[in-house]
Amino acid sequence: MPATALHCRICETEQPLEALGACPRCFGPLDPVYDWERVEREFTPEVLAAGPRSIWRYAPLLPVEPPADARLAPGLTPLLPAPRLAEELGIGELWLKLDTANPTHSFKDRVVAVAAAKAQELGLGTLACSSTGNLANAVAARAAAEGLEAAVFVPVDLEPEKLLATAVYGATIYAVRGSYDHCSRLTVELSFELDWAFVNVTLRSYYAEGSKTLAYEIAEQLGWQAPDAIVCPIASGALFTKIGQGFVELRRLGLVDRPPRLFGGQAEGCSPVAAAFEGGGRVNPVRPATVARSLAIGNPADGDFAVATARDTGGAVHTVSEDDVVENMGLLAEKTGVFGETAPGVTLGALRRAVEDRALGGSDRVVSRLRPIEIEPNADRVLERLAAA
Ligand SMILES: Cc1ncc(COP(=O)(O)O)c(C=O)c1O
Ligand SMILES: [Zn+2]
Repeated sequence: MPATALHCRICETEQPLEALGACPRCFGPLDPVYDWERVEREFTPEVLAAGPRSIWRYAPLLPVEPPADARLAPGLTPLLPAPRLAEELGIGELWLKLDTANPTHSFKDRVVAVAAAKAQELGLGTLACSSTGNLANAVAARAAAEGLEAAVFVPVDLEPEKLLATAVYGATIYAVRGSYDHCSRLTVELSFELDWAFVNVTLRSYYAEGSKTLAYEIAEQLGWQAPDAIVCPIASGALFTKIGQGFVELRRLGLVDRPPRLFGGQAEGCSPVAAAFEGGGRVNPVRPATVARSLAIGNPADGDFAVATARDTGGAVHTVSEDDVVENMGLLAEKTGVFGETAPGVTLGALRRAVEDRALGGSDRVVSRLRPIEIEPNADRVLERLAAA
Protein backbone atom coordinates (compact mmCIF):
# COMPACT_ATOMS: atom_id res chain seq x y z
CA MET A 1 0.00 0.00 0.00
CA PRO A 2 1.64 3.24 -1.10
CA ALA A 3 -0.20 5.58 1.34
CA THR A 4 2.29 6.77 3.93
CA ALA A 5 0.43 9.24 6.19
CA LEU A 6 -2.59 11.51 6.55
CA HIS A 7 -2.04 15.16 5.64
CA CYS A 8 -4.14 18.08 6.93
CA ARG A 9 -5.60 20.17 4.13
CA ILE A 10 -5.60 23.26 6.40
CA CYS A 11 -2.53 23.27 8.69
CA GLU A 12 -0.45 20.95 6.46
CA THR A 13 0.75 18.73 9.33
CA GLU A 14 1.03 14.96 8.90
CA GLN A 15 -0.71 12.34 11.05
CA PRO A 16 -0.41 8.56 11.19
CA LEU A 17 -2.76 6.35 9.10
CA GLU A 18 -5.26 5.85 11.95
CA ALA A 19 -9.02 6.35 12.44
CA LEU A 20 -8.76 10.13 12.81
CA GLY A 21 -11.94 11.92 11.74
CA ALA A 22 -10.18 15.28 11.61
CA CYS A 23 -6.82 16.89 12.22
CA PRO A 24 -6.11 16.76 15.98
CA ARG A 25 -4.45 20.20 15.76
CA CYS A 26 -6.96 22.26 13.75
CA PHE A 27 -9.94 19.94 13.01
CA GLY A 28 -9.20 20.27 9.28
CA PRO A 29 -9.89 17.37 6.87
CA LEU A 30 -7.16 14.80 6.42
CA ASP A 31 -6.14 13.32 3.05
CA PRO A 32 -3.86 10.31 2.60
CA VAL A 33 -0.51 11.02 1.01
CA TYR A 34 1.22 8.52 -1.26
CA ASP A 35 4.70 7.37 -2.08
CA TRP A 36 4.77 8.84 -5.59
CA GLU A 37 7.83 6.90 -6.73
CA ARG A 38 5.86 3.75 -6.13
CA VAL A 39 2.65 5.18 -7.64
CA GLU A 40 4.56 6.10 -10.82
CA ARG A 41 5.73 2.50 -11.16
CA GLU A 42 2.39 0.87 -10.39
CA PHE A 43 -0.25 3.26 -11.74
CA THR A 44 0.39 2.77 -15.46
CA PRO A 45 -2.16 1.91 -18.17
CA GLU A 46 -0.50 -1.49 -18.71
CA VAL A 47 -0.41 -2.51 -15.05
CA LEU A 48 -3.96 -1.26 -14.48
CA ALA A 49 -5.36 -3.07 -17.52
CA ALA A 50 -4.15 -6.37 -16.03
CA GLY A 51 -5.76 -5.62 -12.65
CA PRO A 52 -9.12 -6.66 -11.18
CA ARG A 53 -12.30 -5.52 -12.91
CA SER A 54 -13.34 -3.29 -10.01
CA ILE A 55 -12.14 -0.23 -8.06
CA TRP A 56 -9.32 -2.39 -6.71
CA ARG A 57 -7.40 -2.07 -9.98
CA TYR A 58 -6.65 1.50 -8.75
CA ALA A 59 -5.19 0.26 -5.46
CA PRO A 60 -1.88 2.15 -5.96
CA LEU A 61 -3.83 5.39 -5.33
CA LEU A 62 -6.09 4.05 -2.56
CA PRO A 63 -5.18 4.30 1.14
CA VAL A 64 -5.80 0.64 2.06
CA GLU A 65 -4.43 -2.74 1.12
CA PRO A 66 -6.82 -4.24 -1.47
CA PRO A 67 -8.77 -7.13 0.10
CA ALA A 68 -7.36 -10.56 -0.64
CA ASP A 69 -10.93 -11.75 -1.22
CA ALA A 70 -12.66 -8.77 -2.87
CA ARG A 71 -16.30 -9.71 -2.35
CA LEU A 72 -19.09 -7.73 -3.95
CA ALA A 73 -16.49 -5.38 -5.42
CA PRO A 74 -17.85 -2.09 -6.80
CA GLY A 75 -16.60 -0.12 -9.79
CA LEU A 76 -15.81 -0.45 -13.46
CA THR A 77 -19.41 0.53 -14.14
CA PRO A 78 -20.44 1.23 -17.74
CA LEU A 79 -19.70 4.58 -19.38
CA LEU A 80 -22.55 4.88 -21.82
CA PRO A 81 -22.85 7.28 -24.77
CA ALA A 82 -26.13 9.22 -24.75
CA PRO A 83 -26.42 10.57 -28.32
CA ARG A 84 -30.14 11.40 -28.25
CA LEU A 85 -29.81 13.44 -25.07
CA ALA A 86 -26.61 15.10 -26.39
CA GLU A 87 -28.51 16.18 -29.50
CA GLU A 88 -31.46 17.44 -27.47
CA LEU A 89 -29.13 19.59 -25.35
CA GLY A 90 -26.77 20.69 -28.13
CA ILE A 91 -23.65 19.05 -26.72
CA GLY A 92 -20.96 17.44 -28.87
CA GLU A 93 -20.72 14.19 -26.93
CA LEU A 94 -22.48 13.14 -23.75
CA TRP A 95 -21.65 10.05 -21.70
CA LEU A 96 -23.45 8.68 -18.66
CA LYS A 97 -21.46 7.04 -15.89
CA LEU A 98 -23.85 4.33 -14.76
CA ASP A 99 -23.00 3.93 -11.10
CA THR A 100 -26.42 2.37 -10.68
CA ALA A 101 -24.56 -0.78 -11.79
CA ASN A 102 -22.80 -0.93 -8.39
CA PRO A 103 -24.09 -3.51 -5.87
CA THR A 104 -26.49 -1.09 -4.14
CA HIS A 105 -26.95 1.21 -7.15
CA SER A 106 -24.95 4.29 -6.20
CA PHE A 107 -21.33 5.46 -6.02
CA LYS A 108 -21.50 4.98 -2.25
CA ASP A 109 -20.45 1.34 -2.76
CA ARG A 110 -17.05 2.68 -3.84
CA VAL A 111 -16.44 4.78 -0.74
CA VAL A 112 -17.78 2.14 1.63
CA ALA A 113 -15.60 -0.60 0.13
CA VAL A 114 -12.49 1.47 0.92
CA ALA A 115 -13.68 2.40 4.42
CA ALA A 116 -14.64 -1.20 5.18
CA ALA A 117 -11.19 -2.43 4.17
CA LYS A 118 -9.72 0.06 6.66
CA ALA A 119 -12.22 -1.00 9.35
CA GLN A 120 -11.15 -4.62 8.91
CA GLU A 121 -7.48 -3.67 9.04
CA LEU A 122 -8.21 -1.92 12.38
CA GLY A 123 -10.20 -4.93 13.62
CA LEU A 124 -13.49 -3.03 14.02
CA GLY A 125 -16.56 -5.26 13.88
CA THR A 126 -19.38 -2.77 13.20
CA LEU A 127 -19.75 -0.51 10.18
CA ALA A 128 -21.76 2.62 10.97
CA CYS A 129 -22.79 5.83 9.23
CA SER A 130 -25.16 8.76 9.07
CA SER A 131 -26.94 8.72 5.75
CA THR A 132 -29.47 10.37 3.45
CA GLY A 133 -30.32 6.85 2.21
CA ASN A 134 -27.81 5.58 -0.30
CA LEU A 135 -24.88 5.35 2.08
CA ALA A 136 -26.98 3.30 4.51
CA ASN A 137 -27.68 0.81 1.74
CA ALA A 138 -24.04 0.55 0.80
CA VAL A 139 -22.94 0.09 4.44
CA ALA A 140 -25.59 -2.55 5.09
CA ALA A 141 -24.70 -4.56 1.99
CA ARG A 142 -20.95 -4.34 2.58
CA ALA A 143 -21.40 -5.50 6.20
CA ALA A 144 -23.48 -8.44 4.98
CA ALA A 145 -20.84 -9.40 2.41
CA GLU A 146 -18.01 -9.22 4.95
CA GLY A 147 -19.83 -10.70 7.95
CA LEU A 148 -19.70 -7.46 9.96
CA GLU A 149 -22.44 -5.72 11.96
CA ALA A 150 -24.07 -2.60 10.51
CA ALA A 151 -25.69 0.36 12.29
CA VAL A 152 -27.08 3.23 10.24
CA PHE A 153 -28.57 6.56 11.30
CA VAL A 154 -31.09 8.08 8.90
CA PRO A 155 -33.75 10.80 9.11
CA VAL A 156 -37.08 9.35 10.27
CA ASP A 157 -38.93 10.63 7.19
CA LEU A 158 -36.67 8.92 4.65
CA GLU A 159 -38.43 7.30 1.67
CA PRO A 160 -39.78 3.91 2.92
CA GLU A 161 -38.26 2.09 -0.10
CA LYS A 162 -34.80 3.25 0.95
CA LEU A 163 -35.34 1.99 4.50
CA LEU A 164 -36.58 -1.36 3.22
CA ALA A 165 -33.58 -1.70 0.92
CA THR A 166 -31.29 -1.23 3.94
CA ALA A 167 -33.29 -3.39 6.34
CA VAL A 168 -33.20 -6.37 4.03
CA TYR A 169 -29.44 -6.77 4.62
CA GLY A 170 -30.00 -7.07 8.35
CA ALA A 171 -28.62 -3.68 9.39
CA THR A 172 -29.78 -2.00 12.59
CA ILE A 173 -31.57 1.14 11.45
CA TYR A 174 -31.86 4.16 13.72
CA ALA A 175 -34.60 6.42 12.33
CA VAL A 176 -33.63 9.73 13.86
CA ARG A 177 -36.37 12.28 14.59
CA GLY A 178 -34.63 15.10 12.79
CA SER A 179 -32.81 15.94 9.57
CA TYR A 180 -29.68 14.38 8.08
CA ASP A 181 -27.65 17.05 9.84
CA HIS A 182 -28.98 15.80 13.19
CA CYS A 183 -27.95 12.26 12.21
CA SER A 184 -24.52 13.52 11.28
CA ARG A 185 -23.99 15.31 14.60
CA LEU A 186 -25.25 12.25 16.44
CA THR A 187 -22.71 9.96 14.77
CA VAL A 188 -19.89 12.41 15.51
CA GLU A 189 -20.87 12.29 19.20
CA LEU A 190 -21.23 8.50 19.17
CA SER A 191 -17.86 8.08 17.50
CA PHE A 192 -16.23 9.25 20.76
CA GLU A 193 -18.20 6.62 22.72
CA LEU A 194 -18.29 3.51 20.54
CA ASP A 195 -15.64 1.29 19.06
CA TRP A 196 -17.41 1.26 15.68
CA ALA A 197 -16.16 2.09 12.21
CA PHE A 198 -18.11 5.27 11.43
CA VAL A 199 -17.32 5.28 7.73
CA ASN A 200 -18.11 8.95 7.06
CA VAL A 201 -16.82 10.24 10.42
CA THR A 202 -13.73 8.54 11.85
CA LEU A 203 -12.84 6.80 8.57
CA ARG A 204 -13.77 9.76 6.34
CA SER A 205 -10.20 10.25 5.03
CA TYR A 206 -10.17 6.70 3.66
CA TYR A 207 -13.83 6.64 2.63
CA ALA A 208 -13.64 9.85 0.57
CA GLU A 209 -10.68 8.52 -1.46
CA GLY A 210 -13.00 5.89 -2.94
CA SER A 211 -14.70 8.62 -5.01
CA LYS A 212 -11.47 9.26 -6.92
CA THR A 213 -11.96 5.92 -8.66
CA LEU A 214 -14.72 7.59 -10.72
CA ALA A 215 -12.13 9.97 -12.20
CA TYR A 216 -9.71 7.12 -12.92
CA GLU A 217 -12.40 4.99 -14.53
CA ILE A 218 -13.77 7.75 -16.75
CA ALA A 219 -10.26 8.54 -18.03
CA GLU A 220 -9.42 4.86 -18.58
CA GLN A 221 -12.75 4.16 -20.32
CA LEU A 222 -12.15 7.13 -22.67
CA GLY A 223 -8.74 5.67 -23.61
CA TRP A 224 -6.74 7.74 -21.10
CA GLN A 225 -8.29 11.06 -22.00
CA ALA A 226 -10.15 13.52 -19.83
CA PRO A 227 -13.56 14.72 -21.03
CA ASP A 228 -14.03 18.50 -21.44
CA ALA A 229 -16.41 18.56 -18.49
CA ILE A 230 -17.91 16.41 -15.76
CA VAL A 231 -21.27 17.13 -14.17
CA CYS A 232 -22.26 15.58 -10.87
CA PRO A 233 -24.58 16.18 -7.92
CA ILE A 234 -23.34 17.69 -4.66
CA ALA A 235 -24.48 16.86 -1.11
CA SER A 236 -21.51 16.92 1.32
CA GLY A 237 -19.25 17.99 -1.55
CA ALA A 238 -16.85 15.05 -1.05
CA LEU A 239 -17.64 13.30 -4.34
CA PHE A 240 -17.16 16.50 -6.36
CA THR A 241 -13.93 17.48 -4.59
CA LYS A 242 -12.43 14.00 -4.91
CA ILE A 243 -13.26 13.67 -8.62
CA GLY A 244 -11.34 16.93 -9.05
CA GLN A 245 -8.45 15.54 -7.01
CA GLY A 246 -8.45 12.30 -9.03
CA PHE A 247 -7.89 14.22 -12.26
CA VAL A 248 -5.12 16.32 -10.69
CA GLU A 249 -3.37 13.04 -9.80
CA LEU A 250 -3.83 11.65 -13.34
CA ARG A 251 -2.30 14.81 -14.74
CA ARG A 252 0.64 14.55 -12.37
CA LEU A 253 1.17 11.02 -13.71
CA GLY A 254 0.99 12.30 -17.31
CA LEU A 255 -2.09 10.13 -18.01
CA VAL A 256 -4.34 13.05 -19.03
CA ASP A 257 -3.40 16.43 -20.55
CA ARG A 258 -5.63 18.73 -18.57
CA PRO A 259 -8.30 18.19 -15.94
CA PRO A 260 -11.94 18.58 -17.01
CA ARG A 261 -14.11 21.49 -15.90
CA LEU A 262 -16.29 20.35 -13.01
CA PHE A 263 -19.95 21.36 -12.84
CA GLY A 264 -21.99 20.54 -9.75
CA GLY A 265 -25.73 20.59 -9.17
CA GLN A 266 -27.88 21.08 -6.09
CA ALA A 267 -31.67 21.10 -5.79
CA GLU A 268 -33.07 24.51 -4.88
CA GLY A 269 -34.47 23.28 -1.55
CA CYS A 270 -30.97 22.40 -0.36
CA SER A 271 -28.40 24.46 -2.23
CA PRO A 272 -25.86 25.89 0.24
CA VAL A 273 -22.89 25.08 -2.03
CA ALA A 274 -24.49 26.61 -5.13
CA ALA A 275 -25.38 29.71 -3.07
CA ALA A 276 -21.77 30.07 -1.93
CA PHE A 277 -20.53 29.63 -5.49
CA GLU A 278 -22.93 32.29 -6.77
CA GLY A 279 -22.46 34.67 -3.84
CA GLY A 280 -18.70 34.38 -3.67
CA GLY A 281 -18.59 33.74 0.09
CA ARG A 282 -18.30 30.71 2.33
CA VAL A 283 -20.95 28.00 2.62
CA ASN A 284 -23.72 28.86 5.10
CA PRO A 285 -25.79 25.95 6.44
CA VAL A 286 -29.46 25.70 5.41
CA ARG A 287 -32.46 23.65 6.53
CA PRO A 288 -33.16 21.26 3.62
CA ALA A 289 -36.61 20.95 2.01
CA THR A 290 -36.13 19.14 -1.28
CA VAL A 291 -37.41 16.21 -3.34
CA ALA A 292 -33.76 15.22 -3.81
CA ARG A 293 -33.62 13.42 -0.48
CA SER A 294 -30.32 11.67 -1.15
CA LEU A 295 -28.69 15.11 -1.52
CA ALA A 296 -30.35 16.78 1.48
CA ILE A 297 -27.30 17.82 3.49
CA GLY A 298 -27.80 21.33 4.88
CA ASN A 299 -24.33 21.63 6.44
CA PRO A 300 -21.95 20.10 3.88
CA ALA A 301 -18.57 19.10 5.32
CA ASP A 302 -16.70 19.61 2.04
CA GLY A 303 -18.87 22.46 0.71
CA ASP A 304 -16.13 25.11 0.62
CA PHE A 305 -13.74 22.67 -1.06
CA ALA A 306 -16.39 21.89 -3.68
CA VAL A 307 -16.74 25.61 -4.44
CA ALA A 308 -12.95 25.85 -4.81
CA THR A 309 -12.91 22.81 -7.11
CA ALA A 310 -15.57 24.37 -9.37
CA ARG A 311 -13.63 27.66 -9.54
CA ASP A 312 -10.18 26.10 -10.01
CA THR A 313 -11.34 23.92 -12.91
CA GLY A 314 -13.36 26.67 -14.66
CA GLY A 315 -16.68 25.00 -13.83
CA ALA A 316 -19.62 26.10 -11.68
CA VAL A 317 -22.16 24.91 -9.11
CA HIS A 318 -25.75 25.41 -10.21
CA THR A 319 -29.09 25.46 -8.43
CA VAL A 320 -31.82 23.36 -10.05
CA SER A 321 -35.46 24.16 -9.24
CA GLU A 322 -37.46 21.42 -7.55
CA ASP A 323 -39.81 21.15 -10.56
CA ASP A 324 -36.86 20.85 -12.93
CA VAL A 325 -35.40 17.96 -10.88
CA VAL A 326 -38.50 15.89 -11.54
CA GLU A 327 -38.82 16.98 -15.18
CA ASN A 328 -35.17 16.10 -15.81
CA MET A 329 -35.59 12.60 -14.39
CA GLY A 330 -38.21 12.14 -17.11
CA LEU A 331 -36.08 13.71 -19.83
CA LEU A 332 -33.15 11.46 -18.93
CA ALA A 333 -35.33 8.36 -19.09
CA GLU A 334 -37.00 9.37 -22.36
CA LYS A 335 -33.79 10.24 -24.15
CA THR A 336 -31.47 7.54 -22.83
CA GLY A 337 -33.49 4.64 -21.43
CA VAL A 338 -31.82 5.24 -18.05
CA PHE A 339 -34.02 5.85 -15.03
CA GLY A 340 -32.30 7.06 -11.92
CA GLU A 341 -33.47 8.58 -8.67
CA THR A 342 -33.69 12.33 -8.03
CA ALA A 343 -29.90 12.88 -7.97
CA PRO A 344 -29.52 12.37 -11.77
CA GLY A 345 -32.42 14.84 -12.20
CA VAL A 346 -30.29 17.40 -10.36
CA THR A 347 -27.25 16.48 -12.47
CA LEU A 348 -29.11 16.94 -15.74
CA GLY A 349 -30.47 20.26 -14.48
CA ALA A 350 -26.92 21.48 -13.81
CA LEU A 351 -25.85 20.34 -17.26
CA ARG A 352 -28.74 22.23 -18.88
CA ARG A 353 -27.78 25.38 -16.97
CA ALA A 354 -24.18 25.04 -18.17
CA VAL A 355 -25.43 24.78 -21.77
CA GLU A 356 -27.75 27.79 -21.28
CA ASP A 357 -24.79 29.78 -19.95
CA ARG A 358 -22.85 28.68 -23.07
CA ALA A 359 -20.25 27.14 -20.76
CA LEU A 360 -20.78 23.89 -22.67
CA GLY A 361 -21.79 23.36 -26.27
CA GLY A 362 -21.43 21.55 -29.59
CA SER A 363 -17.70 20.95 -29.36
CA ASP A 364 -17.66 19.56 -25.83
CA ARG A 365 -17.49 16.02 -24.56
CA VAL A 366 -19.33 15.70 -21.28
CA VAL A 367 -19.66 12.82 -18.92
CA SER A 368 -22.63 12.89 -17.05
CA ARG A 369 -41.86 13.71 -14.84
CA LEU A 370 -43.87 11.63 -13.91
CA ARG A 371 -47.27 13.06 -14.97
CA PRO A 372 -49.71 10.19 -15.36
CA ILE A 373 -52.84 10.80 -17.32
CA GLU A 374 -55.77 9.74 -15.19
CA ILE A 375 -58.45 8.13 -17.23
CA GLU A 376 -61.39 5.68 -17.01
CA PRO A 377 -60.80 2.04 -18.05
CA ASN A 378 -62.61 2.77 -21.25
CA ALA A 379 -61.13 2.55 -24.76
CA ASP A 380 -63.35 5.35 -26.09
CA ARG A 381 -62.03 7.76 -23.49
CA VAL A 382 -58.47 6.89 -24.47
CA LEU A 383 -59.23 7.32 -28.15
CA GLU A 384 -61.03 10.61 -27.48
CA ARG A 385 -58.01 11.88 -25.65
CA LEU A 386 -55.66 10.82 -28.39
CA ALA A 387 -57.85 12.49 -31.03
CA ALA A 388 -57.89 15.70 -29.00
CA ALA A 389 -54.11 15.75 -28.56
C1 LIG B 1 -26.71 9.27 -5.58
C2 LIG B 1 -25.86 10.30 -4.93
N1 LIG B 1 -25.13 11.11 -5.70
C3 LIG B 1 -24.34 12.06 -5.18
C4 LIG B 1 -24.24 12.25 -3.81
C5 LIG B 1 -23.34 13.35 -3.31
O1 LIG B 1 -22.22 12.91 -2.63
P1 LIG B 1 -21.43 13.84 -1.62
O2 LIG B 1 -22.19 13.78 -0.31
O3 LIG B 1 -20.08 13.23 -1.54
O4 LIG B 1 -21.42 15.24 -2.18
C6 LIG B 1 -24.96 11.42 -2.95
C7 LIG B 1 -24.84 11.59 -1.50
O5 LIG B 1 -25.54 11.11 -0.69
C8 LIG B 1 -25.81 10.42 -3.51
O6 LIG B 1 -26.54 9.60 -2.76
ZN1 LIG C 1 -4.70 20.62 10.72
